[in-house]
Amino acid sequence: MGILKECINKKVTSSIPIWFMRQAGRYLPEFRKIRSENSNFIELCLNPTLSKEITIQPLRRFQIDAAIIFSDILLVPYSLGQDVVFEKGLGPKLGKLDFDKISNISDDEILEKLKPIYDLIKLVSNDKIMKNKDLIGFIGATWTLLVYMLNRQSPKKINNGIYTNPKIDQIIEKIIHCQKLHIKNQVLNGASIIQIFDSWAGLASEDQLEKYIYRTTKELVEYTKNLGVEVICFPRGIKSYKKYCDIVKPSAINIDYEVDPFKIAKDIKIPVQGGMDPKCLLLDKDEMLKNAKKYLDVFKDHNYIFNLGHGMIPETNPENVKILVNFVKDFR
Ligand code: CP3
Repeated sequence: MGILKECINKKVTSSIPIWFMRQAGRYLPEFRKIRSENSNFIELCLNPTLSKEITIQPLRRFQIDAAIIFSDILLVPYSLGQDVVFEKGLGPKLGKLDFDKISNISDDEILEKLKPIYDLIKLVSNDKIMKNKDLIGFIGATWTLLVYMLNRQSPKKINNGIYTNPKIDQIIEKIIHCQKLHIKNQVLNGASIIQIFDSWAGLASEDQLEKYIYRTTKELVEYTKNLGVEVICFPRGIKSYKKYCDIVKPSAINIDYEVDPFKIAKDIKIPVQGGMDPKCLLLDKDEMLKNAKKYLDVFKDHNYIFNLGHGMIPETNPENVKILVNFVKDFR
């Protein structure tokens, strides 16, 4: 067990736990090299040897406390039989959603497609670099997956019309079923924490929050906790983090960079993760550390995990990451 888990369990840790969303990715030259030799992103995710290497690359460089598996939230729609491709510079593109095909797909077919991810988790968790570190598995939240599956690419806004599909409730139940299978198998193979990414939570109306976010996420949080594993939720851009926490009851909450951390520290009693704007890593060293210190000060009496308010951006200089990690590690 690592100090992330200790922190989430409200213990006093030897230092402030730190890791980064999108830490395994494009800002690292060693990742870009592998990526340039592997043009198919899904195939790369489903190659356990290479995805293990990418997962541990940031741990070789920085004193971070956790690895997050190199994978993608869109492998769930992929496992349900929807085509997913990642085009250079354009983001993900999904194929037509075939309701009947998705409803008829069996658990064995889903697990067959996702098996390389479980092999990757096994490989990473058995590597000695993971001693005293946590291994984070993840899923996209039901709402965010639904948005991608219906919209078929990253949305700018929500087209409410597409949610009137008469089979929507069946699709949602199938997504939840697949998410549970995926959570369970990640945990069985060695993931010690699960993070739920709800990247498009900020686009949901009040009605959609009730219908598609609170109920579905609460169900997945309960399911994960019953497996004996902590779950961190990231409902990016949600209007009320407090209401979300009161209803969904995650073990810890990741905040985005637009919310006021003072208000969060006052209103929310569970462990908090993240917050700093990823763009701060593009500033000069003093400015970057001033921003980091703000979060460390605000949350000094809280169980706090240092992270960002969204994923690391590709232009980030790894040297700045190193400076930031060392600063956080020396903070107490
Ligand atoms: O955090 C990590 O380093 C682990 C790996 C990880 C990836 N995607 C790898 C990836 C994780 C945790 C994700 C989550 C993910 N994927 C989210 C939720 C978090 C968030 O950023 O909001 C979402 C919405 C996706 C969907 C997705 N995948 C998009 C929109 C894109 C294209 C734009 C982008 O962010 O790069 C991807 C591709 C993707 N996923 C890449 C990586 C390293 C880039 C692939 C490339 O090299 O072209």
